[in-house]
Amino acid sequence: MNTLSSYDELPYERLPLPETEPDFLAVLAWLHGFEASDARAARVLELGCAQGGNLIPMATRYPGSEFIGVDLSRVQVEEGRAFIERAGLGNIRLLHGDIASLPENLGTFDYIIAHGVYSWVPEFVREAVLAVCRRLLKPQGVAYISFNVEAGWKLYRQIREMLLKQDDVSLSPMQRVMRVKETLAGMQEADERLAKEIGYLKTASPSYLFHEYLSDINQPFSFEAFVESAARHGLRYLGEAGPRRARVVLENDWGLSAEARHERWLEAEARLDEALQTRFRRALLVRDDATVPSPQQPDRLASLSFSAELSSDDELDFSEFTEQHFQTRTGERYPVSHPLLKAYLVALAGAWPEVVDYQTLLDHALPLAREYGFIGEVDEAFNETLLDFVQLHGIRLHSQPRALEDAEIGLPQSTPLARTQAKSPEWPVTNVFHQALDLDEWGRWLITSMDGITPVEALARLLEEKLMDSGIQSGQEQATEVVENYIAFFRQQGLVG
Ligand SMILES: C[S@@+](CC[C@H](N)C(=O)[O-])C[C@H]1O[C@@H](n2cnc3c(N)ncnc32)[C@H](O)[C@@H]1O
Repeated sequence: MNTLSSYDELPYERLPLPETEPDFLAVLAWLHGFEASDARAARVLELGCAQGGNLIPMATRYPGSEFIGVDLSRVQVEEGRAFIERAGLGNIRLLHGDIASLPENLGTFDYIIAHGVYSWVPEFVREAVLAVCRRLLKPQGVAYISFNVEAGWKLYRQIREMLLKQDDVSLSPMQRVMRVKETLAGMQEADERLAKEIGYLKTASPSYLFHEYLSDINQPFSFEAFVESAARHGLRYLGEAGPRRARVVLENDWGLSAEARHERWLEAEARLDEALQTRFRRALLVRDDATVPSPQQPDRLASLSFSAELSSDDELDFSEFTEQHFQTRTGERYPVSHPLLKAYLVALAGAWPEVVDYQTLLDHALPLAREYGFIGEVDEAFNETLLDFVQLHGIRLHSQPRALEDAEIGLPQSTPLARTQAKSPEWPVTNVFHQALDLDEWGRWLITSMDGITPVEALARLLEEKLMDSGIQSGQEQATEVVENYIAFFRQQGLVG
């Protein structure tokens, strides 16, 4: 069997993809009026799974579900299998194989994920992705397929063409990336958006740069063309899993059949891509014999739960509609005007890293907003503004609330997955939110040592010795403080109970 040498040689990062998390897919489907399976008892297939960096954390989070990944790169699959063995996971299998000729006996799936595949493979594989989704999705199954979108790539294609002109395909993928980095260093661009992208590419990971800008295939599609191909395979658009700055609201659609409403919605989505210059989509699809999905229904938020790591430097105004900002730890800034939403976000931010249900948050937010002069009600407008914020990915959705486990005082314990990840330098450490964390050497060492039986004082002594080995003097008190700060950070990041 062929393997893709570029992926063997320049493997993709082993990152978890929060937007493909089955619980997240289930709640997105719910907002669109579609009932998908419970992530805790689901069968999940990932096409083009690389080393399993996305599936493996899911498999530990949902021990009652089953995960199968398929990839054409033998090197990546073998690496993933070795990790699965080290982590002792029994509910996940990685297969070395071609999406276009899958084994017959895989069974059917509640979720099928294909991220970073569709736009980057030959047409027959693309067709196979859609055919597999239709053939192997259960009746209420949901497929996630990401692809590059024509509306945004019209612009970025210019950079790709410039870089391809300088490329030398006789070199190895890594040598080609190094050459391109040199070209990028000397590139000047007047157009603001192109200049921003070039700036980003100068620091982008080699695998991103190679697979997006130097690979043989990078085929963007218009939304209409994608939906049409899906329809030929008996699949229908369900919604978008990625962040968006606007969403489709259909007005005057009373009396339309579900099918006719769906058609109108698709037209509006396509127009939105042009308006937003969309460059990448994470599209969700369902079988065309299942319930016809509708645009998101804001009132359905009331049965969901939420999490967000946010803060605000503004002196928040809870009485008036004034635009103010909340930001994440990593610096994304989100505008908010609705006074009650501001109070809601304060309550949510205070609860982080817990996941809290809609009503509990309102029970905190409403008295707070009222105290400072809010006189409105919890109405449709509030749900709509909350949904807009959710759609920006300022808030994360969940099907169930999740409280922080009471930590065993003095006996810190990291998860078995985090310990295995931390021991494998090339693997990222992931948290309960299906995110990769940026940890330094000491953080990784501490994670591997937090086994639930070693007290904080003993960890501090071990750290002190380790620092001494590296020529750094620290007292017991200082080492204890460092260990405690790390543990607080891990807890804050959803890495330990
Ligand atoms: C850009 S990577 C994306 C990896 C992963 N899904 C992610 O997003 O991190 C594309 C993956 O698809 C795999 N792939 C490409 N063509 C394939 C095929 N015909 N069958 C199976 N896997 C394929 C590649 O080996 C590679 O691991």
